[in-house]
Amino acid sequence: MTDPAAETSPAAAGTTGELRSAAAKAGKRLGTAVNLTALNAEPLYAQILGEQFDSVTPENALKWGPLTPEQGVYDWAAADAIVEFAEAHAQVVKGHTLVWHEQLPSWLPSAVSADGDGAQLSALLQQHIKDTVTRYRGRVYAWDVVNEAVNIDTASGYTESVFWQKLGPDYIEQAFRWAREADPDALLLYNEVGIERLGPKSDFTYALMQQLLAKGTPIDGIGFQSHVSIHRYPSEANLRANIRRFSELGLRVNISELDARTTLLPGDAAQRWEAQRIAYQQVVGACVVEPGCEGVTLWGFTDKYSWINDDGPDDPLPFDRNYQPKPAYLGVLQGLAGELPTPGENLISNGDFSAGLGAWTASAGALALATAGDRPGWQACVSGRTAELDALVSGPVLDALAAGGPHALSAWVRLNGASSGVVEATLNVTELVDGAESHAALSLGAMAASDVAWVELTGYFGLGFAGTPTAISLEFSGPPAGVDLCVMDVNVARVGG
Ligand code: XIL
Repeated sequence: MTDPAAETSPAAAGTTGELRSAAAKAGKRLGTAVNLTALNAEPLYAQILGEQFDSVTPENALKWGPLTPEQGVYDWAAADAIVEFAEAHAQVVKGHTLVWHEQLPSWLPSAVSADGDGAQLSALLQQHIKDTVTRYRGRVYAWDVVNEAVNIDTASGYTESVFWQKLGPDYIEQAFRWAREADPDALLLYNEVGIERLGPKSDFTYALMQQLLAKGTPIDGIGFQSHVSIHRYPSEANLRANIRRFSELGLRVNISELDARTTLLPGDAAQRWEAQRIAYQQVVGACVVEPGCEGVTLWGFTDKYSWINDDGPDDPLPFDRNYQPKPAYLGVLQGLAGELPTPGENLISNGDFSAGLGAWTASAGALALATAGDRPGWQACVSGRTAELDALVSGPVLDALAAGGPHALSAWVRLNGASSGVVEATLNVTELVDGAESHAALSLGAMAASDVAWVELTGYFGLGFAGTPTAISLEFSGPPAGVDLCVMDVNVARVGG
């Protein structure tokens, strides 16, 4: 009705795009977030949306604020239009999102300002969930019920939102129960940012899911948002292990908001787009080869409409601003075919310390080898560190790193003597620029580490030099002075495929 595009789009007549066919063949869903303004304004947007995806998610239209401009007044028009478009194109709709601390109604703070015990907020939230889920019952097949409730940087580990402050963490369980009452058949999902790679945030969320499931909370699945950067995303093994462990809890896993920003990686556009292709291939491919992963939703599909551009122009999606497929489009296709990137040989000699300390040194303090009880192999530990920058330093790696890339770094890190600290991997580059020696430090990745377990630090990088490099080494540093820093299995490899 409100969707003229549905009548004119070839997809309405049954055209199936390459991506959509490949997803069907893989038995996975491929979805995208939908921006209604673009859908209404641009025939090409509507055409690609209808042809290439089998699942759609309103990017903003179903959030509490946009849906309820005034207390008690709903504006369903935008969400209705997207749901109608999906139905006209034989697509399923994933609803996003019932409970989130952002894009809340502007009237909500005053409505709950005198709400001492949270009863009012609880009633408003219940009504919102009931009305929204009931309206789309049978038409929205899955809901992101709660979004981003975890924030490990707070004292509690939770996002200390108005919901958490007034209702405590129990609001999460409650929201799922209300959603189930309103539609017993819809899949109910928990959605979270930054949990796609193994680490403290994924661990916290995993423990939360375990607790909620143990209480009988009706949670069917989990979404890993996966807003990655082409220099920061999980390795294949890391992402797959993470998918598997959530899936083993009985949860359906989906990659829910995939995009891959490119501007944080040095290099020209061609290098960055090639690195981006590999990032898409890896994330989509990991989902395809893991039976527990049901599908991938991209957070938009054209660089012309991406929320990442709100932070400055970027090109995070598989279609360019003129709706032409980029290398990333090929990466999605490769991933859908189950083809994963192939890492080359380890360019770091003696990265597993099996030949002793070799060329490795400590920039300060003492360096020693040890064996870990809970991870087989040798570890190199720097002790007596007196500053955060005191580092474990590799031998020269210049010859191994051809300009270009992309390269992937993986290393396992652990601390002794502190429960938390961030380990950063840095390439230290010495180069001659116009005859003068200059130094540059390229951060490859950082990871919150602890003395409890080994964690994998990953990063992806290309290399662009201002001049002629004369020396490059890899360093690990970052935790506070006095904390011993231990590293295992350092691997840097060129990725292709
Ligand atoms: C974003 C939208 O893309 C933007 O248009 C809006 O201005 C802000 O929200 N995590 C989420 C999504 O769960 O809802 C967010 O979407 C992106 C981050």
